[in-house]
Amino acid sequence: MRPRFFSLPSAQLANNTWLARGDGSNGPRVAIIGVGMMGREHLRVALLLGRMRIHGVYDEHAESIERAQKAYRQATQRPLEVYTSLEALCSDEAVDAYLIATPNFTHSGIFERVMKTGKPIFLEKPMATSLIDAQRMVTLAKTYPGFVQLGMQYRFKAQYIEAFHAIRVQKALGAVHTVAMSEYRPPFLNKVGEWNKFNNYSGGTLVEKCCHYFDLINLAVDARPVKVYAEGGRAVNFLDFKHQGLNSDIDDHAFVTVTYDNGTLAHFTLNMFCQELYEELVVTGDQGRLVASESSSFRDGVDSSAKIQIEVSGHPAYDGSTVTYPSAIETSGHSGATFFEHAAFLAQLEGDVVDAATPAQGFRSLLVASAAQHALATGQVVFMDEFCAREQVTWPS
Ligand SMILES: NC(=O)c1ccc[n+]([C@@H]2O[C@H](COP(=O)([O-])OP(=O)(O)OC[C@H]3O[C@@H](n4cnc5c(N)ncnc54)[C@H](O)[C@@H]3O)[C@@H](O)[C@H]2O)c1
Repeated sequence: MRPRFFSLPSAQLANNTWLARGDGSNGPRVAIIGVGMMGREHLRVALLLGRMRIHGVYDEHAESIERAQKAYRQATQRPLEVYTSLEALCSDEAVDAYLIATPNFTHSGIFERVMKTGKPIFLEKPMATSLIDAQRMVTLAKTYPGFVQLGMQYRFKAQYIEAFHAIRVQKALGAVHTVAMSEYRPPFLNKVGEWNKFNNYSGGTLVEKCCHYFDLINLAVDARPVKVYAEGGRAVNFLDFKHQGLNSDIDDHAFVTVTYDNGTLAHFTLNMFCQELYEELVVTGDQGRLVASESSSFRDGVDSSAKIQIEVSGHPAYDGSTVTYPSAIETSGHSGATFFEHAAFLAQLEGDVVDAATPAQGFRSLLVASAAQHALATGQVVFMDEFCAREQVTWPS
């Protein structure tokens, strides 16, 4: 069996021969639902990976289809099926697996339709905008004949592969006591229909964007959250933004604290009115401190840089080292994380076990994010047991 991802340092992962590039013609045939910004990134990355075939696409928006066809043609002359309905796509026997990259508020409906095929599904994050829907999806996935992979792709950034290798595999920090995660970045980008400017369609900023970070924090702590508090709001972005008569209502900054049942404390800082992107995870345990960081840019042609420092006596990364992926991978989307997320999807399609997010893990990140969003809206501390009872959901085991 091939190794699970966190068991490999990122450089070894990047060099691993099973990632050798081909033309994908003999690989599994995947259909993409929703080929906006992220769906096209998946398409480009699949072509770069060269181990699966993008068989067809479905999208409600003609321009998204045209852009996907153009991106596809730049890499291959093979035909690309364009479906005229979700039903047509789901009925195509030639498809081996589905990748859903539509806006958040559409996920649960499309997911449940695609589930009728019984085939493997990759679903973008956050899994849903409603906790009840997400809980139902987790329950359905438990008895599903195909596997379901959630799009928590930050796990596959080079610095977090290294971090989770050190924390979970090497146990270099000993018991973890504090986690501090932060993201500083430019505002949300334009989307088809501007769904990400409205809480109703995105689930809110802490859900839409930050479920990634709550997934990383949950992974680092490996316990159950008991208390969540958040402060933040709308300071700079989209204050006067309107779309189809609706005023944008999304938050652009927040401080969130989470207390876990093993006593571990976590903190998350978000600021979305910066010029450049800087992300940092600081984890401290009995044996020392780990810092995983990334600097990157939304400007074309500016490379990202990822670093890891593990201040534990005798650790080779004590003074810090750069762990950025090779340029072709790093520039392919989300600092190379999408490439390795695809490698993980492919590995699962081939029957391997990898550290990709399960529906239960996706739901856990959504629960913390939703509790934080609720604390932000009410100004109250959220006790997870009460919150789950009120929302009629349970923390997944
Ligand atoms: N993992 C990540 O880091 C990451 C990054 C960006 C976006 N995302 C997620 O990917 C998803 C898509 O985001 P995006 O940035 O590509 O948005 P987008 O608006 O650029 O693209 C969404 C596409 O889905 C299409 N669509 C909408 N409803 C549809 C439906 N019912 N059936 C078929 N197509 C439909 C739209 O026409 C559009 O082309 C979201 O869930 C988002 O949160 C994940």
